[in-house]
Amino acid sequence: MQGGREPASYEVVMMAGEDVVIDPWGSAQSTDYDRIVEQFGLSSMDGVTLENPSRLHRRGIVFAHRDLDQVLDAKRRGDGFGVLTGLMPSGQMHMGHSMVIDQVKWFQEQGGDVTIAVADLESQATRGISLEKGRKIALEEYVANYAALGLDVEKTNVYFQSSRPIVQRLGFQLGKRTNLNEFEAIYGFGGETNLAHVQAPMVQVGDILHPQTDEYGGLRPIVVPVGVDQDPHLRLTRGLAAKTNWFNVNDGKHAGVTITLSVHEENASALGQMPNGRLDKEKLNQVFNGIVASLVDLGYSDIQSNPKQGTVNVPSATKRDKTMIRMKLLQYERSLGGMGMLAPSSTYHHFAVGMTGEKMSSSKPKTTLFLRDDLPTVEKKIKRAFSGGQTTIEEHRRLGGDPDIDVAYQYMMYFFEEDDGYLAELNSDYRAGKILAGEMKQLCIDRAVDWLGHLHEMRDQTAHLVEDFLAQDAR
Ligand code: TRP
Repeated sequence: MQGGREPASYEVVMMAGEDVVIDPWGSAQSTDYDRIVEQFGLSSMDGVTLENPSRLHRRGIVFAHRDLDQVLDAKRRGDGFGVLTGLMPSGQMHMGHSMVIDQVKWFQEQGGDVTIAVADLESQATRGISLEKGRKIALEEYVANYAALGLDVEKTNVYFQSSRPIVQRLGFQLGKRTNLNEFEAIYGFGGETNLAHVQAPMVQVGDILHPQTDEYGGLRPIVVPVGVDQDPHLRLTRGLAAKTNWFNVNDGKHAGVTITLSVHEENASALGQMPNGRLDKEKLNQVFNGIVASLVDLGYSDIQSNPKQGTVNVPSATKRDKTMIRMKLLQYERSLGGMGMLAPSSTYHHFAVGMTGEKMSSSKPKTTLFLRDDLPTVEKKIKRAFSGGQTTIEEHRRLGGDPDIDVAYQYMMYFFEEDDGYLAELNSDYRAGKILAGEMKQLCIDRAVDWLGHLHEMRDQTAHLVEDFLAQDAR
C-alpha cells in the first residue's frame, strides 16, 4: 500500500475469506480479470452492441463496464454525455497510457464532451511531486501527446485538481457519507494508512462527479474510461452519489418501475419531515405531485401515486426507461435544492503485457515503449522483447509459436495494427509456425516505427495547441 507507485498499475491483495482488494497505488498487477469482474459486479462487454466499435472493442481489450447503456442510450436519443478521465503527472507517458486516450477519443467521436483531470494534488500527496513540477509534466508530457494522438481541442477541457475548488469542495462534502470502515473494505486501508491516501480518492470523487454540476455542463451521464486498477474509486464514487439521491428508482414488485423517497438530514425538511417527527402532509403531497408531473412530462399516463405508502408506481415503464426516469427525478431533486447526482458509468481495459514479460512500468524503461522513445530505441526494445516463439527454428516450424504471450504480436494487436483480417492471419500463421519469432518482431518494428514516427510528427505539428486544451481555470 505504501510501496512503489506506478501509474496504471495496481495490487490485488488477498484478504481473509479470499476476497480481493485492489490497491490502486500498489505495484503488483493481476490479470485475473474474470475474478475481478465477478467479485466487483462489473458487466461484461459481451452483452453490449456498439455501432462502430474501435480496435480496442473489437478485440475484447475493453472487456468490462458499469452502466455503459446509460451513455449509449443518451447518445442514441441525441442527448449529451460527458467523458472524464484523469492522469497522474509523474513519469513519462507510455503505450499503456495511450489506451485510455484511445477510448476517450472514441467517446469524443461519438459526441461526448471531454474533461481531463490532472491529478496534481494526488501526485503531490502520494508521490511527492510538487504542483509546479506536476504542471510541467502534465503539459509537456501528457497534454502534448493527447494533442498528437488526435483529441479534439474544441471538445476537450484539461484542468488541475489544485485549481478547481468545486472538485475539492465536492470531495469534502461527500466525505460525510463514507467512513474509515468503507475505506478499509474498498482499499484495504488500516491504522497505518497515510491520510493522503484517504484524501486522494475523495478528490477523485470530486473529479468524477463535478462535470454534471450545473456550472460544468449540467446533469448528463458521465463515462470514465480507466484501467481496472481505478475501479475502487468508481465503486466509492457510485456509492456516494447514490447516497445523496432523494428519490430511489427501482424495478416495480410486479412490473414497471417504483419510486420511493430517500430521506436524510439534508432533505428531511424539503420532503415534509418536521423536526418534531411529524409529517407536513401538504409539503409531502407537493413533492409527490412534482414526481408525478415529471413522469407526465416523460409521457407516462399510468402513474400510481401513493404518498401515504411513500411510493409512486409506473407499471408501463421498462427497465430501459429507468435511466430516463432517474435523470428526470435528479433534475427535479436539483430544483428542490438537492445535488441531483447520477452515478457515473465506466469502462475497463486489459493491460498490455510488459515487453520483458513482466508488467509494464514507467520506472523500468525496458518494459514498455515511451511515446518519446526515438526510433532506434523502439527497434532495440522490440528486438529484445519477450517472444512466444520456440527455441530453435526447426521446433518453431514444427510446433508453432504462441501469439498470446508474444510481445511483438500483442503490441500489434493492442496498438499498431488496425486491420482485423491481417491480424487474424498473423495469428494463425504464427501458431502454424509459418511466421518465425524474428519475423514477427520485424513486422512489429515496421508498424511501431510508422506509428511512433507519425506521432512524433504530429506532436510537432500540434505543439501550439497545448495551451488551448486547458480550461480557463488552468491557464
Ligand atoms: N488516480 C488516477 C491515477 O492514478 C488519476 C485520476 C485522478 C483519475 N482523478 C481521476 C482517473 C478521475 C480517472 C478519473 O492515474
